[in-house]
Amino acid sequence: MSKKLFMLLHIAVLQAFAQAPNNKIDQLISKMSIEEKVGQMTNLTLATIADEKDGTVILNQAKLNEAIQKYHIGSFQNVLTHAYSVQEWHGFLDTIQKTTLSLEKHKIPSLYCIDAVHGANYTKGSTLFPHNIAMAATRNINLATIGGQVTAAEVRATGIRYNFSPVLDVGRQPLWPRFAETFGEDVHLVKEMGLATIKGYEGNNLKNTNSVAACMKHFVGYSAPNVGKDRATANISDLQLRELYLPPFQEAVKLGTQTLMVNSAEINGIPVHANKFLLTDVLRKELGFKGVVISDWEDIKKLVERHKTAENYKDAVFQAVNAGIDLCIVPFDYQFTTNLIQLVKEGKISIERINQSVKRVLILKQTLGLFDQPFVEKSAYPQLFRPEYKTNTLDAAREAITLLKNENNVLPISKTKNLVVLGPTAHSKTSMFGCWSYTWQGQDSSYFDKKDLTVFDAIKEKSNASKYIKNDELEQQKEKIQNADYIVVCLGEDAYAETPGNIHDLELPIEQKNLVKQLQQFNKPIILVLQEGRPRIVREIEPLCKAVVMGYWSGPQAGRAIAEVIFGDINPSGKLPFTYPRFTGDLLTYDHKFLDAAVEVASPYSYNYQFNPQWPFGHGLSYTSFKYDSLTLSSDTLVKANKLKITISIKNTGNLEGKEVIELYSKDLVASITPSVKRLRKFTKINLKPGESKRVAFEINSSELAFINKDLKWVTEKGQFEILIGDLKKTFYYKN
Ligand code: BGC
Repeated sequence: MSKKLFMLLHIAVLQAFAQAPNNKIDQLISKMSIEEKVGQMTNLTLATIADEKDGTVILNQAKLNEAIQKYHIGSFQNVLTHAYSVQEWHGFLDTIQKTTLSLEKHKIPSLYCIDAVHGANYTKGSTLFPHNIAMAATRNINLATIGGQVTAAEVRATGIRYNFSPVLDVGRQPLWPRFAETFGEDVHLVKEMGLATIKGYEGNNLKNTNSVAACMKHFVGYSAPNVGKDRATANISDLQLRELYLPPFQEAVKLGTQTLMVNSAEINGIPVHANKFLLTDVLRKELGFKGVVISDWEDIKKLVERHKTAENYKDAVFQAVNAGIDLCIVPFDYQFTTNLIQLVKEGKISIERINQSVKRVLILKQTLGLFDQPFVEKSAYPQLFRPEYKTNTLDAAREAITLLKNENNVLPISKTKNLVVLGPTAHSKTSMFGCWSYTWQGQDSSYFDKKDLTVFDAIKEKSNASKYIKNDELEQQKEKIQNADYIVVCLGEDAYAETPGNIHDLELPIEQKNLVKQLQQFNKPIILVLQEGRPRIVREIEPLCKAVVMGYWSGPQAGRAIAEVIFGDINPSGKLPFTYPRFTGDLLTYDHKFLDAAVEVASPYSYNYQFNPQWPFGHGLSYTSFKYDSLTLSSDTLVKANKLKITISIKNTGNLEGKEVIELYSKDLVASITPSVKRLRKFTKINLKPGESKRVAFEINSSELAFINKDLKWVTEKGQFEILIGDLKKTFYYKN
């Protein structure tokens, strides 16, 4: 089936479910009490119905009965503390469902939800993929779809049908501790990778036993906190909101994505959970979203406790439901439920408003096939832990690893050489996996497969003479370094998730920088390996290193893939999905405005343009060389209704086979709103054998050149544009 046909089918099927008048659901709603309806809008965490004893989680039947019988709770989520075996999951899910169907008058099945953000995270033995930031570095949308499909298949086989993923926040603030969960700083890249992932999750029919409902999150503007902290305030102009932060959600809505989670923070002084304009006017009316809007964790209560825009919980519930929340992750108690019932009984929230939300939740359950087959689907079991998934995650890690520096082609290194490997991320699995890896914070390495190799393990496997030096043993082990041919120093970050990952400074910790400075005394070539969820500043130590390899948080196969790059078993092809900053005070994205990188030269008021990050967005070296040639436009004028065809030749001029990412940027030379210096419009990835050349074609239409004008409308204004690919550019004229 062609990609286009698949996409149309996908959209048609999913939207049909969401829009059609639904007699069965309408009839059901007409028979439900207020209490039963509000129960369907309530989501609790597993901790409310389970106890943990000696490391084992056991459902508490009395609490479960109370949740279903007394409060009519329609959905549960996530874990108590750690990952469970498939058998444990099956036990939980079937018991919850059995209890629900025996106690719930209308036989409405329960829905279970999970954060499987880079694989079926909370299931022991499941396959984890690189984090989104690394997936974006691959620039390979097929890998994103495969990652989504494998995740969906394993999640569904555990019995769960709803995944709180993917993050569609655009990562424009590298301090933000959830940066690694984004697909990087560019809107187009986030759209392409995000949509590919959603297609992988949802497939073309959510009743299929290898699909799960996706949740685009976190609507909207979560990734732009002013101070870089998690769940902090953002000031986003209407113009930026529409041009930078809404488009990935808009495209995912068009695709038919089933659910959406709300940003925990606030924009321009209004907590998003209480923002009717965003959650109803923009999301429902403008974007046309028909699915379920779910709150984030405890965020209605936080309108009282953190945001201080509600006097009490009841007021908070009023604000949030009135704004447009359908389902609330409460997740620990029944206060949301009791307050909402009261508000309806007092006539402050209409029953019509409640019916809207309940209908959306019930349609989701119906679309997922829960009314037909509410229990764990046995036919999905063979989808678990398939050996080919390991290849899939290795492929993704291999294409993610990004070679940032390679002075005098110091890499690749021959396997006969003697390497010393050291630094805090050299022999650490938690630095490979990052957050949401069997545990929320990703810090418990006992869940990782013993067979997964750290960077040191993988280097040692290839070059047996290589040695590892522990962080505190540098002094005693000097001889090992003196005898080595190369030093591989592995720096970066350990795993963290959300608020615990807040930092005050993007600089690498001083101990890490000092380590590299100390290593200088040995006068050996230093290879720097970075494994980190966000770009930590390396300005001071980069000149001391001959090569820099960026590993991001690339998952279980990260160590292997990094070693393969170091020894040349694979040719690196990853490209930075963000601008790697040189200074903490200069966090410009590649698509900044001219003014932000203008420097005054010679005489006062004489400006030049000087953008000088550590490494630019799109940067990534190869062991071969590519030559771009013959950039051709189908016309020197683009008229509104037409398309511009752009072709270019790329030749592999080196001696090794290699993959190359071709990125097409446009530049609007003059516009009524200051234009960005350039914008990514298209990208593709090709493979070339030595000496081989390929002609690559792109098409651009007028809407792909558009920006938001002062009336908050998408426009393409007449005038000169440039198309830039590699080191080539061509100009054309656009007229309406
Ligand atoms: C996170 C969400 C996540 C939710 C449920 C929150 O803390 O912000 O991204 O989906 O928890 O676990």
